[in-house]
Amino acid sequence: MKFAAVENPRSRQEELGQFLTATPVADFMASMFGPLPRTVRLLDAGAGSGSLTVAFVSRCCAKRGSVRAIEATLYEVDEQILDALAANMCKCERLCSDAGIRFNFSIHSADFVQKMSSRLAGDLFSTDPSAFDAAIANPPYRKISADSPERRALRSVGVETSNLYTGFIALIQRLLVPGGQLVGITPRSFCNGPYFRSFREDFLSQFELRRLHVFESRQAAFREDSVLQENIIFHAVKGRNQPRDILISSSSGENGDEITETVFPFAEIVQPHDAERFIHIPSSASHATAKETMDGLCSSLASLRVTVSTGRVVDFRHKDALRKEPEHGTVPLLYPCHFIGGTVHWPKLEARKPNAILDNDETRPWLVPSGVYLLTKRFTSKEERRRLVACLFDPDLVKTKWVGFENHLNYFHASGHGLERTLAVGLYAFLNSTVVDQYFRRFSGHTQVNATDLRTLAYPDRDTLQAMGREMKSLDLSQDEIDQLVTKHLHACR
Ligand SMILES: C[S@@+](CC[C@H](N)C(=O)[O-])C[C@H]1O[C@@H](n2cnc3c(N)ncnc32)[C@H](O)[C@@H]1O
Repeated sequence: MKFAAVENPRSRQEELGQFLTATPVADFMASMFGPLPRTVRLLDAGAGSGSLTVAFVSRCCAKRGSVRAIEATLYEVDEQILDALAANMCKCERLCSDAGIRFNFSIHSADFVQKMSSRLAGDLFSTDPSAFDAAIANPPYRKISADSPERRALRSVGVETSNLYTGFIALIQRLLVPGGQLVGITPRSFCNGPYFRSFREDFLSQFELRRLHVFESRQAAFREDSVLQENIIFHAVKGRNQPRDILISSSSGENGDEITETVFPFAEIVQPHDAERFIHIPSSASHATAKETMDGLCSSLASLRVTVSTGRVVDFRHKDALRKEPEHGTVPLLYPCHFIGGTVHWPKLEARKPNAILDNDETRPWLVPSGVYLLTKRFTSKEERRRLVACLFDPDLVKTKWVGFENHLNYFHASGHGLERTLAVGLYAFLNSTVVDQYFRRFSGHTQVNATDLRTLAYPDRDTLQAMGREMKSLDLSQDEIDQLVTKHLHACR
């Protein structure tokens, strides 16, 4: 049976967070549900043309299992897609009728966040605010600012989150009955990073995670829309007891490709003592090796008496103090464009970024005294081989009393001052190694590296880092040379 398709212009898609799920991915999602009740009350929030409900219904009909009735509730704000949605639901009706399943649906042309927040807020004193046994979702993703109507509505039911997709998931969780299931496809960004911390806490305390699936290619799930997000699919059951084990699977995203599945102890995915509640997703053998190596390390930045902070100069806040070229009364201002071969090359006059900032009473609080600092990029390009790119600021090469680190950098320091040189060089080798990069990719699916991410890593002890630092005769070593050196010292310190 053919289902109705729809096309919207790109700008409108972005405004609505509208990226429709490809049929093979929707079918795969529908296959993830566990046993369902005889009558399933299904929620499809942000339904688009209904491809997820179609996949769910098709699956129930083909399986000829215990499901005897499906009551689908669909929310969609885009009026232009409603005809296609209604047409697809009518086709679901016919499919179900052929399979002897009772099917009814209600399409709500309404804002899911506003409607459900007010319903949940109104239901706070009711004994049973939940209404759905299953939900299948590809929620819209868009940042929502602190004073937006969506944020206010979500806040009214105790949800504080900065993206629409996490808002949708938090509401869906509240609308499911205990034991109710959600299969969702979302960006992977909620798995780490400070902005999603309270969402992760809420999600992991109310949902039991049964399965996570990652695509090796970023474009896999939404090929036609060329979405540059790394996406995951998860199967979660409303409840408070995380399973002992969890299934992690991955696939390239090509049609009919092979799916690799591995079962992991849940404690490896969300580490019991991790206050940040990062969700690690090991999807390759190198991730497993990296974890084994990192598990052997028992120092933290705090125990090394090293701090990592985000560069303090937010350039647009100091527009009048920025200078393209150094001049009297200025000090170096460093951006990622100054990273060359492991050290800071400054000034870089051909770069579009300013090279200097005035040193005066207004800017001084945002500067740091010169010293040896380790810098990392906060954003890497997709093409870059590693997510973690570290570089040394060497005061012997850039002579200055004060220096500004721009906000696109993280910098490692000792209470606001420079680091001891061999320690800084050891950290340079460690952070630029493949093993750390692979470990990092277990919990981060995006190209952003937050200071919190760097803070949660385990580090070698000071002696080992200094030994690495002493052996680094040049910062310009090849990746293989850095990896060999780091591996040798990590083995020696066990
Ligand atoms: C990522 S698309 C997914 C569509 C469909 N579920 C699929 O998988 O193909 C998200 C959908 O949510 C809709 N949407 C955006 N904001 C919404 C809101 N506040 N309430 C209901 N639907 C919304 C968009 O118009 C879009 O169709």
